[in-house]
Amino acid sequence: MAKHVYIKTFGCQMNERDSEIIEQLLAGSGYIGVADPGSADLILLNTCSIRAKAEQKVYSLLGQLREEKSRRPGLRIGVAGCVAQQEGEEIFRRMPHVDIVLGTQQIYRLPDILASLEKGDTQRELAVDMEQDFAIPPFQKLLRGDGRRPPSPAGTNCDYKKFVTIMQGCNNYCSYCVVPSTRGREISRPVADILEEARLLVAQGVREITLLGQNVNSYGRTNPVATQPVSFAGLLRQVAAIPGLARLRFTTSNPRDLSEELMQCFADLDNLCPQLHLPVQSGSNRILARMNRKYTVETYLDRVAALRRYRPGIALTTDIIVGFPGETDEDFEATMELLRTVRFHGSFSFKYSDRPNTRSAGFADKVPEEIKSARLQRFQQLQDEISLERNKEYIGKTVEVMVESCSGQEVKGRTATNHVVHFCSDRQPAAGEQLAVRIVHAGKHSLRGEPAARGQERTRPGPHETSGGHR
Ligand code: SAH
Ligand code: SF4
Ligand code: F3S
Repeated sequence: MAKHVYIKTFGCQMNERDSEIIEQLLAGSGYIGVADPGSADLILLNTCSIRAKAEQKVYSLLGQLREEKSRRPGLRIGVAGCVAQQEGEEIFRRMPHVDIVLGTQQIYRLPDILASLEKGDTQRELAVDMEQDFAIPPFQKLLRGDGRRPPSPAGTNCDYKKFVTIMQGCNNYCSYCVVPSTRGREISRPVADILEEARLLVAQGVREITLLGQNVNSYGRTNPVATQPVSFAGLLRQVAAIPGLARLRFTTSNPRDLSEELMQCFADLDNLCPQLHLPVQSGSNRILARMNRKYTVETYLDRVAALRRYRPGIALTTDIIVGFPGETDEDFEATMELLRTVRFHGSFSFKYSDRPNTRSAGFADKVPEEIKSARLQRFQQLQDEISLERNKEYIGKTVEVMVESCSGQEVKGRTATNHVVHFCSDRQPAAGEQLAVRIVHAGKHSLRGEPAARGQERTRPGPHETSGGHR
């Protein structure tokens, strides 16, 4: 009889993709994904440790599951992801009802771990080893015997757009960041494996692919098993050339090594979306140096200008940390100034949070919580104003929207610039379909439009955006 697994995913896209991989692996062991933890035989939390709050959330959810486990002793509870990697055995100590703690490199062992728990060989499993020469297993290993992907799991990514992990880990050691210790050393997947996965996805009807890595720009550089001398730009060109791939994106890019060769791709590749998430973190060179980001505000601004030259209209988003240790009012004003200068389409902004095994956790001059909150609020207010102004620039324009979902006549989709667009349609378009939509209204978080030509909606690229040039 089929068993049921419920997976809750926290954190970044890397975790989302890992959750999918876990579901794919478990499908091979007879597990079906469910959206209700109450009906699950296995509850798995795929966790994030990037800020203290993210970690607290995991512990509080685990606390709530204690009762569920005492009601249903056969239920298995597992913790995967960055908190599992960071905390290890401590999770069993604080949460004795947890059965499995699965580190970030160990997800591929989950079917074996479950089998040995079922046989009663072990009571509990702690699998958090980190290998120096870890390699992501070849994609073929994730497929079922018949070579087809298992059905898409409930509650995760939709079928027409997918993530493809191209590397794991990070060697950058930004002074505030837990990722190098939770994800291990940077390792790139072989080009052939990535291409095989991407081609199969497109053959199965996937229209949009996002390539994932903590720092995609260093793809291929730090791989001890690399046999192919290829840059990220080289890889991007090969993926973009897959016939039928309408949209290609990638994340995340460290501004430090955003190469000219990579920026050139934005000019050359039609299906590379005009959108880039380029985390800057701070507008103060003094703080950037303390963060160990290894670029200056000036180089960042140069790259922004270059990107806009290579791809006019490119939508830029960023990440900001406010209240980093030692951040003065002047440093913070420099961040506000940077926001006014670049006018990002959107941003994710966070209060600095001390993390284990990071250098900045040991810095003396911590910023008080109230000041962090006040700065965050001011930053977000200005960003909201700018996002609204930016979004208003689309009013009157016709953009290509890829449909995400429909609810009655109300359709939601995304532009190539990654803006959410809502519009009404007489018929229900399929997810992944591309329609020309004229924007008539802009809010700070989304746009509203109407089909450009009712009854004659096109599925080919419109005049104001390009995509899917290879079909
Ligand atoms: N690899 C990506 C970032 C991954 S973490 C990059 O280098 O751009 C996502 C974001 O979380 C970071 O960009 C940063 O803004 C934020 N972040 C990371 N560590 C943090 C910390 N200790 N406190 C607050 N925010 C943090
Ligand atoms: Fe963390 Fe820096 Fe690596 Fe990004 S580049 S994951 S912020 S250490
Ligand atoms: Fe969080 Fe780990 Fe991603 S700490 S942001 S889930 S790499």
